Amino acid sequence: MKDLDQLLIPIDGFHIIVRKSVYQPSDDTYLLYDVTKKLLLRRRRVAEIGCGAGLLTLLLAQNNIVLATDLNLEAVKCVLQNLKTNKLYLNADLICCDSLKPLRESKIFDCIFFNPPYIPTEVHEDIAWSGGNEGIEVTKKFILDSIKHLKRNGKIICVLSTCMNLKKLYKFIDELGLKTIIKSKKKFFFEELYVAILERKNLYSNRANSG
Ligand SMILES: C[S@@+](CC[C@H](N)C(=O)[O-])C[C@H]1O[C@@H](n2cnc3c(N)ncnc32)[C@H](O)[C@@H]1O
Repeated sequence: MKDLDQLLIPIDGFHIIVRKSVYQPSDDTYLLYDVTKKLLLRRRRVAEIGCGAGLLTLLLAQNNIVLATDLNLEAVKCVLQNLKTNKLYLNADLICCDSLKPLRESKIFDCIFFNPPYIPTEVHEDIAWSGGNEGIEVTKKFILDSIKHLKRNGKIICVLSTCMNLKKLYKFIDELGLKTIIKSKKKFFFEELYVAILERKNLYSNRANSG
């Protein structure tokens, strides 16, 4: 009975337990994981919003200090267990919360990651995948919260999907003064997935003006 309540996924030397009510690592998870691996981040302060079972959090915790959050308490417990099993417990803090809400507004992170719930839904059916109106409501919130906590040259690294109203989302991102760089894309049966890096557009202009 116990085995049916959780799944064990061995990947890249990690042993990831996925509890029953926790989002199971999927195509979107692995696409973000692969891009993150190539970023070769070392000794950075990073955050993951909506960490699920924690595969990305574990990858980041190998060489960085991580804050991981999820609204689902089972997910947070699951990540705690996975961090302990994989001996990465000392490099990560976990909070069961909405986005990054409990944090003071301080620009401390080099990178903030998320694979948001993005399926368009009128009501919030399941926090793991319901992205709200046009699939972009939760993502917009994660972006707004991330900006408050990113260093000036910090980056948001996130999953986007053609299931979302991308036209509206890109406009929203642009109006926030961010630019979108697509790092990876992959076609699946009913959608195309992207991993995007969002960073401030005017990053170098002030330096030029002052220099
Ligand atoms: C698509 S799943 C991704 C999980 C994991 N990062 C992965 O890639 O496998 C989205 C995750 O976001 C969490 N989530 C949804 N709304 C949230 C919110 N407002 N604040 C924090 N986490 C949230 C869900 O519980 C779920 O674990």
